[in-house]
Amino acid sequence: MLIIGAGPAGLVLGNMLRAEGIHCVIVERQSRAHVESRARAGFLAANSVRILAGNGLAAGLLAAGQQHDTCAFRSDRGQFELNYGELGRGEIHTVYPQQDLVRDLIAEFLDRGGEILFETDVASVDARQARITLRDGRQLSGRYVAGCDGRHGVSRQAVPGRRFQRDHGVSWLALLAEAPPSMAAVMYAIHPNGFAGHMARTATITRYYLQVPRGTDPEMWTDDRVWDELHLRMRADEYGELKQGRFIERRVVDMTSDVLDPIQHERLFLAGDAASLISPSAAKGANLALMEVELLAHALARAVNHGDERLLARYSQDCLPRIWRAQEFSHWMINLLHGPSGDGHDAFFARSLQRARLESLQNSRTHQDFFAENYVGI
Ligand code: APR
Repeated sequence: MLIIGAGPAGLVLGNMLRAEGIHCVIVERQSRAHVESRARAGFLAANSVRILAGNGLAAGLLAAGQQHDTCAFRSDRGQFELNYGELGRGEIHTVYPQQDLVRDLIAEFLDRGGEILFETDVASVDARQARITLRDGRQLSGRYVAGCDGRHGVSRQAVPGRRFQRDHGVSWLALLAEAPPSMAAVMYAIHPNGFAGHMARTATITRYYLQVPRGTDPEMWTDDRVWDELHLRMRADEYGELKQGRFIERRVVDMTSDVLDPIQHERLFLAGDAASLISPSAAKGANLALMEVELLAHALARAVNHGDERLLARYSQDCLPRIWRAQEFSHWMINLLHGPSGDGHDAFFARSLQRARLESLQNSRTHQDFFAENYVGI
């Protein structure tokens, strides 16, 4: 079995297949040090923790992860908190930095007898032959190939089908600050200047987001300018100062989504960002990836160990409705968090809808249950 990509999707898949006794080689373009230090997501939904724990992959996150059950919203109408751990299905998040999870998964995969070829770049995939060609011309083949090579990977190019894309027209400056969290909860701040977000990561690292115009050069945002704008949009005068520190990451993320249909072709199966990209507005990327990988591992194990390809044949069909539900909620969150700029009639109308949506989230228990179920669930 060949897996392209040692991100969360490829590594969890590899670990699950090793547990089924299936020979597995992961091919990864970057070095081990690079993937083990790449800071990305951190919010693991209850279903993701169940998948990891159920497969013996959660020792690190259960020991060091922090439990989060509340998020809060600020706007010109005040502030309110939603304790989603007590709403909807009562599920919570475990916050564990993705690079720590990746480090745990690599160590475990190697322990289980898996092989990883680091610094090995895949140039193309032949889905029919289950064969990959490396940048240096060498070829590797297996019984199946899993394309877990992320948004810019080559494996999605080997899957003919439709590609549904949506540009939400909004960009975020994604920041990691060397600073403790400023508050216990995730904070979503809605402000005429644009959205601002705060998400705790660890005791010493905190993620912030600032909505910026499309095409913004991140280097234009000096540390001082970012902190001033965060204070303004988070209404720090009213609710308290933010705990400041140096920014160790500063990049612009465009809110885009895309979904491939189908996510398989011949003997090639996609999972994670290679299969669908979701905007980070509801922190669903890694959780969606684990949902797909659980289905794929099960289907591959049936095919390899029992010669039964029925689950593999319906892999796309089983995943896509869940992918679209996550996309729908993420789209709903984007509309909740971003108001239009300008003073025209249309902008006023859209801002009033945004305000109404926020008010019903604050006041309607049914609305809150809907939010909680979708915010943590897949
Ligand atoms: N050859 C070999 N490896 C490749 C190639 C290639 N041509 N192209 C990409 N890769 C590797 C990347 O270096 C990366 O390590 O594939 C890996 C893909 O990993 P991720 O981008 O983390 O993708 P995935 O595992 O699907 O991520 C799951 O976690 O943080 C989130 O945004 C992430 O939502 C996504 C989720």
